[in-house]
Amino acid sequence: MTTSAICFVCLGNICRSPTAEGVFRAKLAQAGLEREIEVDSAGTAAYHIGKPADARSREHAKLRGYELESVARQFSKEDFHRFDLILAMDTENLKNMQAMLEPDADAPRAQLKLFREYDPQAAPGESVPDPYHGGKQGFEEVLDICERTAEGLLVELQKERK
Ligand code: 4NP
Repeated sequence: MTTSAICFVCLGNICRSPTAEGVFRAKLAQAGLEREIEVDSAGTAAYHIGKPADARSREHAKLRGYELESVARQFSKEDFHRFDLILAMDTENLKNMQAMLEPDADAPRAQLKLFREYDPQAAPGESVPDPYHGGKQGFEEVLDICERTAEGLLVELQKERK
């Protein structure tokens, strides 16, 4: 199967998943794959629907040359059928999405995984730490993780296309 639509999912859809989305879009563009793979992000919570990414996430991303252009939306059951790959930024959000799967419904199109499965430096089951209540270091760490993981993900997608 060739992956053609990917969604990154965190809690609020204003910090971690918009960062993953923005960084991954840039990596796809560098690889010339931006027209082949659709990218989106969402949050399992409704708190921030309609908002742009957190100003701190946008500021730190911009220092590395990334524009975060997402508008927050809540993850919905339809997303299981819109995407090939749904990548949760942490184990809580993965569990919350798994709990939304209805046993009697059609099998989802999407595979659900932890984002950091593609991070070569992560231990199994590792999450992206939530930077929302912390300082600048947390936002930099999210960017470091997203850059590394986006590279790892891109390598896997390029393998599918060979
Ligand atoms: P995110 O971060 O899930 O990475 O977007 C958060 C954003 C907002 C809140 C928590 C985490 N909040 O509690 O409002």
